[in-house]
Amino acid sequence: MTARIIDGKATALSLRQDVAKAVDTLKSGHGITPGLAVVLVGEDPASAVYVRNKHKQTLEAGMNSYEHRLDASTSQDDLLALVRKLNADPAVNGILVQLPLPDQIDSSAVIDTIDPAKDVDGFHVINAGRLATGLPALVPCTPVGCIILAKQVHADLSGLEAVVVGRSNIVGKPVAQLLLNKNCTVTIAHSRTKDLPGVCRRADILIAAVGRPEMVRGDWIKPGATVIDVGINRIPREDGKTRLVGDVAYEEAAEVAGAITPVPGGVGPMTIACLLRSTVEATCRQNGLEPLI
Ligand code: GUN
Repeated sequence: MTARIIDGKATALSLRQDVAKAVDTLKSGHGITPGLAVVLVGEDPASAVYVRNKHKQTLEAGMNSYEHRLDASTSQDDLLALVRKLNADPAVNGILVQLPLPDQIDSSAVIDTIDPAKDVDGFHVINAGRLATGLPALVPCTPVGCIILAKQVHADLSGLEAVVVGRSNIVGKPVAQLLLNKNCTVTIAHSRTKDLPGVCRRADILIAAVGRPEMVRGDWIKPGATVIDVGINRIPREDGKTRLVGDVAYEEAAEVAGAITPVPGGVGPMTIACLLRSTVEATCRQNGLEPLI
């Protein structure tokens, strides 16, 4: 079998077009232009690329983008002061503080300080708790992207066996929660799971979010399963350059799976598109409107 390739790039483009339409409606119908503030502390090259792409795509969707670049030596107090200023700024509807943060800063303290109504990353405990209890919440972007891609294969996820490999607060736990909310039978597997290959082989939907290059092998996959690969790992090539690979051994997996996301071009592009959608959603709720998207 050769798996169907799930095209995250095209799906993200279409979502961004829907976001742009919703932004138009907010502007022309309500006189509101959504604003997203992104805070980058330090010079991490991967983070700088993400932030640049966020800025560009936010503007392309017709929203205001506010970038705050702080020195790597910024103190926690100074960062918290900026977050409080953004919380109070009515032009800012969404706040994202790019992770990872330098060692002198406690990420939890920063996330706790973001107004939950502007927490477009969905990392605040209020949003995590709302998601876990089935209340409307701002939900982490990569997990939402995973569900949108899985739904391209399974219009109805109800009753399917889903296995999530990885238990981070950013991807593993929230994606498991979203799958549970869609009536999947969900297993969260991790580095201490006994017989990880055997657990993965139960999955109709396998979500790999461990951050270990090509860890999930072809023979871990149930024939016909849908594989969603969240990993973005840069590994050396023989010619001295580098290449991107996921957490799944793609060539092997594509022989067995029914559908699979590539790396790059799978989950990656969905994250920013979902962030833009969350910014519109947050803007609508802050203005007493039903989310337009
Ligand atoms: N760093 C890598 N991915 C993310 C993300 O989704 N949100 C934030 N804030 N930082 C990140």
